[in-house]
Order: sequence, then C-alpha cells, then structure tokens
Amino acid sequence: MNKINVIEKTVAAHVENFGNQPESIAWAPGRIEVLGNHTDYNDGTVLSAAIHLGICFCISRSDRPGIHLLAVDVGQTAAFDTSDIQKVPGFDWANYIKGVFHFIQEHLDEKIDGLDCTLLGSIPMGAGLSSSAALEVAAAYAVLKILNATIDKKEIARLCRRAEHQFAGTNCGLLDQFSSIFGRDHGLIHSDFRTLEVSSIKLPDDIEFLVVNPHIKHSLADSPYNERRERCEQAASQLAELLPHPVTALRDVSPAEFEANRSRMTAGAAKRAAHVIGEIDRVERGVELIRTENLAAFGQLLFESHQSSIENFENSCPELDVVVEAARTAGALGARLSGGGFGGSAIVMVRADQAQAISEKIISFCAEKGLAPEILAVTPSSGARVMP
Ligand code: GLA
Repeated sequence: MNKINVIEKTVAAHVENFGNQPESIAWAPGRIEVLGNHTDYNDGTVLSAAIHLGICFCISRSDRPGIHLLAVDVGQTAAFDTSDIQKVPGFDWANYIKGVFHFIQEHLDEKIDGLDCTLLGSIPMGAGLSSSAALEVAAAYAVLKILNATIDKKEIARLCRRAEHQFAGTNCGLLDQFSSIFGRDHGLIHSDFRTLEVSSIKLPDDIEFLVVNPHIKHSLADSPYNERRERCEQAASQLAELLPHPVTALRDVSPAEFEANRSRMTAGAAKRAAHVIGEIDRVERGVELIRTENLAAFGQLLFESHQSSIENFENSCPELDVVVEAARTAGALGARLSGGGFGGSAIVMVRADQAQAISEKIISFCAEKGLAPEILAVTPSSGARVMP
C-alpha cells in the first residue's frame, strides 16, 4: 500500500467508525539506520533515512470525554484519559499514543480531551523500522494541528522519546524520532546528537536500500539494549580517568586516543567503546565519501560496521550475519544490521538497476543456509507532515 492509499483508507475508516470527517491528518515515516550504530545516546552522529512506509493518524473532535482510538490494521479500539500515565491494559499500541498526548499536554499546559482518532500503517512490525517512533510522531503532529499549537520539532522528538521510555522500557536515544521527523526525499539525514544539529545529504538517484528481514523476534525491551547503554557509560567513565581532557561521553574520545588507552580499560568496556568510537569515525568518513560520490568506499564502511557489531558490540545474530554475507557475495555496495540489533533487519545498499538481481542472489544464498528472508526495497523519503 502506498502512502496515498494508506491515508485514504485511514480517513475512510475514521468516517465509517466515528461518523465525522477528520479535522487533522498526519503522516510519519519509519526509518533505516544507515551508519552510526548505538552512537545516538553516546552524543555521537548518525546517518539515517526516513522511508516511504509510515503511519497515518487522523483526529476529529468529539463531545464524548476521553480519547477514543481505532487501530485499523489490528482491528482494535481502545480509550484512555490523558490525566494519568498508567498503561492502557492489553493495548501496547495505544500506550504510545497515550504517552505522547500526556507529555504534550504537560508541555503545553493544556488539557487534551474529547478526541476520536484513527491510525493505520504500512510499516511491517518487528522488522526494526521504528514503527513505534512513526506512531508517536504521527500522533504528535496530528494532535498539535487539532490544538492549533506548535512545538519545536526537536522538542517533539524528545516528548515522543519520553513516551517510548515510559511504555517500552527502552532507554533509547533520539535517532528514531529524528529520522521520522527530518527525512528527506532521496537523501540521508546526518544528525549530531550532542548539538542536535541536523543536515541532509543528497544521495545519487540510483541508490536504493533493501531491507532484508530474516524474521527473528525483535523486541528492544527484552534485548540487552539498556545493558549496552550502561556499558558505554562505564567505558566513558574509564576513559575520563585516563585522558587529560574532559570526557562526558564516548563522543569525546578519538580513535587514536582510544587505541592508546584501551589496554588500561576493562575488556568488556573496551569492546563496547571500540564499536561506538569506530562508528562515529565511520559516520564522519562516510559523509565525505557520499559528498565525493565514492559509494563503493561508503558501502565498505557498512560492511565494517557490521563486523564491528559482531566482534565488539555483540549485537548481531547468526541470521543477520548470513544476510550480510549473502549481500557481500551478491555484489552489493554495502550491508549491515540496522538499528538496535539482537534481531530486526539488515539493510543492503545497491544500485537500483542491480536491486532485482542482488535480491535473488541473497534469497538463494540464504536458502542454502536454511533462511527464507523477506526483502523490501525502501526509498529515502521526506519526513513527517500534516496534510493540508
Ligand atoms: C534503536 C534505538 C535508537 C538507537 C538504535 C541503535 O533503534 O531506538 O535510539 O540507539 O537502536 O543505533
């Protein structure tokens, strides 16, 4: 289903269920993380892209108190009141919306009540494409329109992340929300999570990404994500003791400084730091390589990133390793796990005219190893917006 179809279906379901035309319609995309793994919460930099798949969220005002929701794809309805932050029992998806509305209400100091909302998305669940961030951002944009209020985009990302922390229990960074908000057609988003500066970098028109999903159960809440984050903080504290300048996060340590001091760190912390410091360095080199249109060398950085996930951050898994190996053998420009890891999907960077042939080779390579992954071609797309 393309974006227009998703929006039309959401609006039709809203009218049928609530008997009113929506007064506010928003769209927010999912994302792929292209390079810069687990760097966001280390004050680092990331290259990511919003994709053409996303979530539509529409709202109309109602005389009934409370917030009433219809999730079209799961065929469920739910209701809540924004005054508390207790979980809506049994409805994980509704909690993200509750969290967003609650924190926006608190931020604006204005009661959010009496709304009928409908949502529908095209992002496959569990593929690691940040469907929850897309839902949060779509809900935020739609409710701000109905309230006739504005909040700075970076602040919206922070409020959405609070909803994620509150309800998913994952101590994540801002990457997913930033990517959904700041996407650009055929471009990458270069985010700096220390300064919160965001810029976009144009990609050559013939570059495409394949999302290869080997269907491993993916839930960041059950994954060692929070543990990895703590380890990174420990690594930064150890390096702060060893280096002559202030270190508040791994961002403050150059690859050379790290190499000169790694033997004095605990082995576990050193491995995690090696990944993050290496990733931040790869992002900065990657930016230059894209600017100079050296896509082959850029792709190599993706392979290096994956290798570092295997060896240093230990957030890959055998299925993703097979996919990345398949992509390399098939002649892709680059491939790596994308997002938190411990499951989810790998991304494969290809020239558009080779996408079909490379997909077929990946499928047959994987089949020999007993895997039947699903492959989805995604296009870097523009970020969240409210429909006029
Ligand atoms: C998940 C988190 C992000 C980021 C990535 C890893 O997607 O939600 O904040 O940490 O993992 O880079």
